[in-house]
Amino acid sequence: MNLHTKPLNRTLLNLIKEEPTEDMRVLDLGCGYGKLTFALAPVVKYITGIDRSPEQIKRAEELAVERGIDNVEFHVADARTTDYSRFGKIDMIVAHFFMSNEAVYNSSRCLGHGNVFAFACFHEDRLKELGVKSRFSYSLDGMEDLLKNAGFRVEYLDAEKEVLEFKSKKEFYDYFKGSKARWEQTSRWKNFMEYLEQGGRKITYSTLVGKARKL
Ligand SMILES: C[S@@+](CC[C@H](N)C(=O)[O-])C[C@H]1O[C@@H](n2cnc3c(N)ncnc32)[C@H](O)[C@@H]1O
Repeated sequence: MNLHTKPLNRTLLNLIKEEPTEDMRVLDLGCGYGKLTFALAPVVKYITGIDRSPEQIKRAEELAVERGIDNVEFHVADARTTDYSRFGKIDMIVAHFFMSNEAVYNSSRCLGHGNVFAFACFHEDRLKELGVKSRFSYSLDGMEDLLKNAGFRVEYLDAEKEVLEFKSKKEFYDYFKGSKARWEQTSRWKNFMEYLEQGGRKITYSTLVGKARKL
């Protein structure tokens, strides 16, 4: 397994599926190549995925054609600056490992009373062994305040503290090697290599999962 084959967060899927999704039009923020979008397509009326990466959206569109899925569409769009109403009426907004303050406010503006925003995102302890906090990570309290300030009632919010353990240096390296280019932009890659060399084989991969309802 590597980061790309990591399965979808189970809690998030369950939180979404508790809702009467069959007749819903759903928006997936930061959809990548559509991992969550395609997982939800069979249980919703229609789902739109947006991502700022044209490469990811192209791949998602190719997969939709390959798999013959016709209740999905994908758009290149920045979830922080886009007015989501351009995608038509939306009944639920979801996000799997994409999060930003602006996206929470945009979701609140787009959703109607009683509609749900459900997400899994990086928790502040994620990769804490490597010393560099992700600017996309949130604390429990920080996320709770953000959701409330944006006009949501928090129905579920929990930090899932998973610790990944690797048997060997190679296994650990292979799992994260795809992150090298990104991590080299901060000292995270250097810290990772040092941690590996010093015998580190465990890493915290904590996730914040939540469901909030528009007031
Ligand atoms: C960790 S990936 C998760 C992708 C997908 N949701 C999944 O679970 O496989 C984060 C995604 O968010 C996208 N992203 C980052 N910032 C964004 C923004 N401001 N607007 C839209 N997408 C963004 C990235 O291009 C990337 O595809």
